[in-house]
Amino acid sequence: MTFQEIKQTADTYFMPTYARFPVALERGENATYWDSEGKTYIDFTAGIGVNSLGTNDAGWKAAVTAQLDRLQHTSNLYYNETAASAAKLLCERSGFAKVLFCNSGAEANECAIKLARKYSFDKYGEGRYNIVTLQNSFHGRTMATITATGQAHYHTYFAPFLEGFRYAESGDLAALSELLDGTVCAVLVEVVQGEGGVLLTDPDYLRAVRGLCEQQDILLIFDEVQTGIGRTGRLFAYETIGVKSDILTAAKGIAGGLPMGACLCTKALGGTLTAGTHGTTFGGNPVACAGALEVLRRMDDAFLERVRQKGEAIRSRLSTFRGLENVRGLGLMIGADLREKTASQVANRCCEEGLLVLTAKSALRLLPPLTITDAEIEKGLAILERVLLEKGEEQ
Ligand SMILES: Cc1ncc(COP(=O)(O)O)c(C=O)c1O
Repeated sequence: MTFQEIKQTADTYFMPTYARFPVALERGENATYWDSEGKTYIDFTAGIGVNSLGTNDAGWKAAVTAQLDRLQHTSNLYYNETAASAAKLLCERSGFAKVLFCNSGAEANECAIKLARKYSFDKYGEGRYNIVTLQNSFHGRTMATITATGQAHYHTYFAPFLEGFRYAESGDLAALSELLDGTVCAVLVEVVQGEGGVLLTDPDYLRAVRGLCEQQDILLIFDEVQTGIGRTGRLFAYETIGVKSDILTAAKGIAGGLPMGACLCTKALGGTLTAGTHGTTFGGNPVACAGALEVLRRMDDAFLERVRQKGEAIRSRLSTFRGLENVRGLGLMIGADLREKTASQVANRCCEEGLLVLTAKSALRLLPPLTITDAEIEKGLAILERVLLEKGEEQ
């Protein structure tokens, strides 16, 4: 099909829930893509933080296809070696005791919410179900997770929203403390707010939140759906700040491009969700787990060190670009504010020039594949710099 044919077919049959760039991507090689018309693009998006090992990675493809050759799905009624090995490796590498596999970030957070509420119900009985999240957060698009999301514009159209969520301003410990009135079972936060604009949550605040939670037996949940699995140059972003949560959620890059989410918890919480209280048909699918095993095995110290180096190199270059300010981030999760142009103007022009970038509210957001090469970084930055220097009327 030509691009126009692909576009027309998609626009005819998909619900119009996505504002798409006028491009149909066809194939890729690490952080370089080709579209349906043969044009090349440097990828600073990794499919919104998903393709952690880039595209067409030989090791990942071998691991996934080897599993496909054996068995594509079993259901959770039976044991499966690949799924068991992925659970073991993820628990060992993260320091958590137990995991539930699901299919997305929102589902991982759903599991975290249910786990926190049941833990509290089992121990304290009814009524201690409230969950505090932060303003400007993003936790997903299911009914529970859009309610958990602390952004008012998500709280329209779909009422009634769920009961039992309260919102605190990030960094304001006194405000949070006031909300903890004996009916709260958990505090749910992102270590870096991704969709909210790539904003680092103050580590001192997170340490203090940890302390408050401990005093009152309130569970701390880190939503590491975007920050996890090497994105920030550590396996999980919490390692950077040295604060550990009771529950941690991951998804996006976990299986290197296959749909997968994970909700991890400590030993004390490990027996809370018993048979029949939670589950999902596809969770722990062996093909996704084979991808996850490969991703986790590849993310050794040297790999993560390279992610940190590449992130620092990109940030230091971006800081010299005239059109940007407040360059920030951790590892290869990078944000910057724009001085004159809007984020969508820059993203559109970059796309026309052969560079894929993301936006987060009014900020520019970059989430390249963790395997991006120095040459690909260089090409992408050159396009971005050129676009930022363009005069207004050319946009
Ligand atoms: C921090 C965070 N939590 C949850 C989600 C939802 O993940 P998914 O789109 O896989 O449901 C996202 C997605 O962007 C996210 O960034």
